[in-house]
Amino acid sequence: MGYLRNAWYVGALSREVNEQPLGRVILDESLVFFRAADGSPVAVADRCPHRFVPLSLGKVKHGELECGYHGLRFGRDGICIANPHGNNAIPRGANLRHYPALERYGFIWIWTGDIERADESRMPVFPFLDSPDQFTAVHGYLPVAGNYQLVVDNLLDLSHVEFLHPMFSQAEGVAGHRTEFFQDGDVVVANRWKPNVPLQGLAGHMFWTSPSTRSDARSNMRWSAPGYLNFDLGATEVGATVEEGICLPNAHLVTPETEFKSHYFWSIARNRLLDDEAMSARLHDVVDRIFRTEDGPIIEAQQRSMGLTSDLMSLHPVTLDPDIPAMRARRILARRIEEEHQASGRKDLGRASAVA
Ligand code: FES
Ligand SMILES: [Fe+2]
Repeated sequence: MGYLRNAWYVGALSREVNEQPLGRVILDESLVFFRAADGSPVAVADRCPHRFVPLSLGKVKHGELECGYHGLRFGRDGICIANPHGNNAIPRGANLRHYPALERYGFIWIWTGDIERADESRMPVFPFLDSPDQFTAVHGYLPVAGNYQLVVDNLLDLSHVEFLHPMFSQAEGVAGHRTEFFQDGDVVVANRWKPNVPLQGLAGHMFWTSPSTRSDARSNMRWSAPGYLNFDLGATEVGATVEEGICLPNAHLVTPETEFKSHYFWSIARNRLLDDEAMSARLHDVVDRIFRTEDGPIIEAQQRSMGLTSDLMSLHPVTLDPDIPAMRARRILARRIEEEHQASGRKDLGRASAVA
């Protein structure tokens, strides 16, 4: 089906891009990330135009990327700026594709489409990752050997929680939950309200301090294209307002690597114990372990079992009620990709007729 290209994708955690270049495949393209002298992130094609060695095997020197084979150097726009050989002339055409990049919410984001259409206002918004006086967040990354839409399906279908995640399984099962699915423009919402249930989940197990043994819990997911998920997770005293309770909002950001591989970035914030570094480490480890040992392996097994296709619908799957949000998201994404193809076809036609 191809990818939605005119979009921001997370390419790396901020902490992954430091003194060494970082190579990563995104939407089937090899990129290298590094930091310019002022610390701002740079993303360019990870292939030296001289002998096609990956530049991620080179070094970053004074904010410039030096090829590890013969030392051509490239600046933040991907332009070759130094040639240590001969008369030091810069060879013609020795430039790299450059991807608009910016740093926000603890991630490095890149724009994979037309450079002139890169637009910061099209970034997803996660206020809880930008409010250090109210929330402390931890971040993580997991490569997954499965198509990115399988990862999105997993996040939009929270009915798997009772079965795949023993830590969250509940004696009362799913019967007492109130689920609602709806679509708001191109946003898909899958809400799960759990009124007056025994303490459960991360909020109930890690942050609950009152003597009550029951809470109103919620796990409400919002998806927007291509793979942005905003997860409102929390618990309050029975009958209390959301604001009074424990809020653990999460961002889940899924970036295609290839048709059969994904980059899964996540961040979870909390409005409790903001300065407790031991809690940050523990929360990171718990969330990382759940994805690494439960969701990741099941998605990878699912992809292996599907074989050499990423087109779930071509296999005519049985559909259950909780699949509705993921099916809607797939439909919206397919439409957006198709619209983008049509628009770029029109643009190419326009260029051809301008030339003729
Ligand atoms: S391969 Fe990069 S400078 Fe030769
Ligand atoms: Fe899960």
